[in-house]
Amino acid sequence: MERRRASRLDKVEPPATIAAGERARQLSRQGRDIIDLGQSSPHHVTPEHIIEAGVKALRDGMTNIESPRGLPEFREAMAEKLARHNGLDVNPGGDVLVTPGSKQGLYYSVNAFIGEGDEVLLIEPTWVSFRQQVQLSQGIPVAVPLSEEEEYAITYEGLRRYITPRTKAMVINNPNNPTGRVYTLTELEAVARLATENNLLVICDETYEYFIYGSNKHHTLAALPGMWERTLTSYTFTKSYSMAGWRLGCIVGPEALLEPLLQIQEHTASFVSPFIQMAGIAAVTGPQDHIEDWRAECAGLATAVVDRLNAVDGVQCPLPQGATFVFPRFSMERTSVELAELLVESQGVVITPGIGFGESGEGHVRIALMRSPAERVREGVERIATALETL
Ligand SMILES: Cc1ncc(COP(=O)(O)O)c(C=O)c1O
Repeated sequence: MERRRASRLDKVEPPATIAAGERARQLSRQGRDIIDLGQSSPHHVTPEHIIEAGVKALRDGMTNIESPRGLPEFREAMAEKLARHNGLDVNPGGDVLVTPGSKQGLYYSVNAFIGEGDEVLLIEPTWVSFRQQVQLSQGIPVAVPLSEEEEYAITYEGLRRYITPRTKAMVINNPNNPTGRVYTLTELEAVARLATENNLLVICDETYEYFIYGSNKHHTLAALPGMWERTLTSYTFTKSYSMAGWRLGCIVGPEALLEPLLQIQEHTASFVSPFIQMAGIAAVTGPQDHIEDWRAECAGLATAVVDRLNAVDGVQCPLPQGATFVFPRFSMERTSVELAELLVESQGVVITPGIGFGESGEGHVRIALMRSPAERVREGVERIATALETL
């Protein structure tokens, strides 16, 4: 007997990144030489001292129930990092919620404040899951497409046009996945002004905060005047510490804003495994040198990849300011999904179709710079460029 699934799932689409990753794993298992430039998590194994801390905690018996808010030691370590790196003075007692991966925490953030008919501004192109998380919460995602010609710049007037009496929140991802934009203080002040004037909740995703190139500078939105009380900021251990498989992230904000998120966690994931949080403490308090190595490698790769792709007729690829991707535009008859399929089937290279990042992402593909070792990224991009030159 056919069972009808809940109608709120009708508009939810699978993430373009996961579909590409699944295809890569399937073809690799069949023995094909596949270069994975699809998903964004680094290929590195988690640094040794972090693994050791997790294993030690397991052996110490930290395998049981923990507080839904997170270990106090973890929240204190995060508070210290936030003061040092983000200019945020938080109370570790109530202003940090530890979540199983930041994706889960972001979903709590949307689900706790967005209901039927509430509009959420999404600065596009944007990460694959925000739109779907708003749909899952029965809200209305409102795309604010930024213009590539204007280097995806945010302006107050540009945002204000999308405000209606139903606008409740906006989502900003800084640095942006997939465009690599790192927003200037002036752009963030525009966001702050709009949010304050319209009493918006702001969900700010700072996943790629350590991947900043050239003279660009990362600013934490919640540290701007008037923003702390209306902002939920998301952090993850997936990128900077290569801990995707551990599922560890946290949402930072005033205790009163975190309360409804905590309520959802209490009835769903319950808590994050304590031994994983111990590994997370080692990550934030231990040596950070690997981050600079990974960042520098990514910066070098970005330059090389952009140069190679811009040498192809019909391809335009801006140099990213941050994050771990390039996001070239191609001009041809094919859609980004068709191009992604062609590249995987004929060249054995997995990339993510731009449409996964919103309508304004069509005509682009996203190439991840950290999913595979540097020499494989170069080889993969060479295969892509050669294929585009012969199409
Ligand atoms: C912008 C952004 N936010 C959130 C996430 C989710 O990371 P995780 O759930 O592994 O912490 C990702 C991962 O790709 C991302 O790129």
